[in-house]
Amino acid sequence: MSIRPILIHPDPRLKKVCTPFEGVDTAARKLADDMLETMYDAPGVGLAAPQVGILSRLFVMDCAGKEETPEPLALINPEITWASEELNTHEEGCLSIPEQYEEVTRPAEVKVRYLNLDGQIEERHFAGLAATCAQHEIDHLNGKLFIDYLSRIKRSMITTRMKKLKADRARAL
Ligand code: NI
Repeated sequence: MSIRPILIHPDPRLKKVCTPFEGVDTAARKLADDMLETMYDAPGVGLAAPQVGILSRLFVMDCAGKEETPEPLALINPEITWASEELNTHEEGCLSIPEQYEEVTRPAEVKVRYLNLDGQIEERHFAGLAATCAQHEIDHLNGKLFIDYLSRIKRSMITTRMKKLKADRARAL
């Protein structure tokens, strides 16, 4: 396993609609392993393939609490098959938009169908933080970021901060 660099917004690769996998092979499993390691290292609760520059439909997540047993999940070609009418507002952040947290309102519960790492179809029901996380990560696969839910002015403030962060990091190299 290896840690991969995480792209920081703004980056054109974070705005692309990603391509489905045709099957689950060794390369897909290796990518999922690397992404989990990268996510735990960051640390974060979710990471989508485009955030490491791979424009394929895969994300990983682990929303288990600090005192709970880790629950790593890799979801390939995920699709939301059901969303609750009830909404939930959660403060969201993103490893591609470090240190920025804003409230986003989304369906409180969702069902997601996907391929697991054995290539089998699974469906899971997510609620609470996991529901927010799964929707945030699926958005990534469609080139959408959580800041796209904010006002134009908030979004442009955050984008300006991220441009500065990238410039500072480039100078530090
Ligand atoms: Ni994100």
